[in-house]
Amino acid sequence: MSTESVSARTMPEGSLPFILRLTRPHHVMLIVALLAAGFSAVFALAPTLVIYGISLVVLSSDPEAFRIVFLALVGLGAVVVGLLLASAANMLGHKIAFAVQKELRLALLGRMAQMPVSRIEGKAGELKKVVLGDIDRLEGLLAHVLPDMVAGLTGPIAGAVVLLFIDWRLTLSALALVPVAWFAQYWTWHGRTAIFEEWNRTEANANSALLSYVRGIATLKAFNRQASTLENVTTAIHRLRDLAVMVTRRSRYPYSLFSSALSANLLVVLPVALILHKSGLIDQAEFVLAVVLGACLVKPLNKVVFAAMILARTSVAIDRIQALLNTSTIAEHARMNPPVHNTIRFERVCFAYPEGRAVLQNIDLEINEGSLTALVGPSGAGKTTLARLLPRFEDCTSGCIRLGGVDIRDLSLAELRRRIGIVFQDPTLFHGSIRDNIGIAKPDASPERLAQAATDARVQSFGGDALAVTVSDGGSGLSGGERQRVAIARAILKDAPILILDEATAFVDAENEAEVQVALSAAGQGRTVLVIAHRLASIEHADQIIVLNEGRVEACGKHADLLRRSPTYARLWNAQQRATGWKLAAPGYQG
Ligand SMILES: Nc1ncnc2c1ncn2[C@@H]1O[C@H](COP(=O)(O)OP(=O)(O)OP(=O)(O)O)[C@@H](O)[C@H]1O
Ligand SMILES: [Mg+2]
Repeated sequence: MSTESVSARTMPEGSLPFILRLTRPHHVMLIVALLAAGFSAVFALAPTLVIYGISLVVLSSDPEAFRIVFLALVGLGAVVVGLLLASAANMLGHKIAFAVQKELRLALLGRMAQMPVSRIEGKAGELKKVVLGDIDRLEGLLAHVLPDMVAGLTGPIAGAVVLLFIDWRLTLSALALVPVAWFAQYWTWHGRTAIFEEWNRTEANANSALLSYVRGIATLKAFNRQASTLENVTTAIHRLRDLAVMVTRRSRYPYSLFSSALSANLLVVLPVALILHKSGLIDQAEFVLAVVLGACLVKPLNKVVFAAMILARTSVAIDRIQALLNTSTIAEHARMNPPVHNTIRFERVCFAYPEGRAVLQNIDLEINEGSLTALVGPSGAGKTTLARLLPRFEDCTSGCIRLGGVDIRDLSLAELRRRIGIVFQDPTLFHGSIRDNIGIAKPDASPERLAQAATDARVQSFGGDALAVTVSDGGSGLSGGERQRVAIARAILKDAPILILDEATAFVDAENEAEVQVALSAAGQGRTVLVIAHRLASIEHADQIIVLNEGRVEACGKHADLLRRSPTYARLWNAQQRATGWKLAAPGYQG
């Protein structure tokens, strides 16, 4: 978050206060833009006033042609100034809009970098919509809606003041139909909120249905379920059409009334002006001015209403921007010196994902420096979640994690994460060469060290100059095993004192696995290692095995001890022993 103006608030604000806060660094420019918009509307009255002046000259006893030409030129000049002011307002509005969009996007990116990983991961569609789509809408608001609102109000007010100088009854008559227009607006908007809410919900449904269709295309094809998933998208598209038709149908009468009320001023102004003229209260030139000015005095209010409609639509986007800005972050208070050793302690740690049930409950455990600890348990027990608390991808809901005796929340995130190497269960690669992908672990590593890490992790076995191979975003061009070996090479290169391996070799083929295990064992020497493994045989000799079940530590100890003490561990072990002898039989095969 770079500036105070785009910092997060705990309470959501209304759209306009939020916009005003966002534009705080540009308030001077905004005021100039709005003044320019307002004055452009005032200058737009010039032709009407020129008509009044010309009427005065023509109706005078000595109408001189040059005075008429002079007045016409003055009117033309005023129109040009009005146009210049309008274009200045437009240009400044866009300048502010683009600056605010840039600042807000950077602020959101900065905020996202500090959010818990679970708030970001898997939410590409939603986040893209906010950071690109919703922020895009602010351009319309700042560059068009605000100047249009100011111009749309200033024009009628200035005209009403001019009429006031002639006769207050003219002002009243020119504004007489405003209440009718207001009623038409009320009629239009009454009950619309529910429709717009449904519109937003349906649009969001269509969005997520389309995303899940695209993401799951292979699975859907495999199970012949494309049609049913696409059905969700088409249903949403039909519903959007129905809602649009409903809104248009409902607003046809109110809208006609509104437009008529704003254009039918002459019906009131003309009789009033005639009566005033007949009574000798206004002269002929004033009569002309009253009719010309009064006839279209309130028409610019159309712009105000249109602008208000865009504002209402943008408010949903603003709500989403505010919600993202207000997401809690991983707070950083580097108030303690780096710890001198790397023993890890979990003390009564509880954790729940936002809006989720408790995943970890009262976890107490100790991982000694230099030891190999294995974390085992059924799928969904919370093993990955527990491991992700250590580098503070998430913060525990209660309890505390200590590293070398220091609460990890009191260390700088850079210091904490510098000490931890991780191989994820499903590693991600970025667009670039494999060399770049390994290098992110240690950008200043020498090419020889990098190549050695790649060799240790069996990356070179991809064939050819494996390090030069370019991978696409997400690593979709590589197999699961290949991605995992790149991730292992990263961890080896990082050379951190703590190593977390979450199913690090799950996708590696049997031929390479033995060698990768050797490399990992070598990399783990002298380090504090936490291994999450489904294959219990691979962690049989760990210094300590922690059995996690339904978010709780069921038991902790050595293999032989756990076989006796932990029903979950014994069950998992026995199941795996049985599975080892399992064969896939062909029909009729009598094994
Ligand atoms: N980002 C998330 N948001 C909400 N719930 C989540 C999230 N990630 C995991 N969970 C839930 O937390 C629980 C624990 O998940 P976790 O991934 O830690 O299990 P695990 O023990 O690592 O399982 P596995 O052995 O299958 O990898 C599961 O019930 C899962 O549905
Ligand atoms: Mg897991």
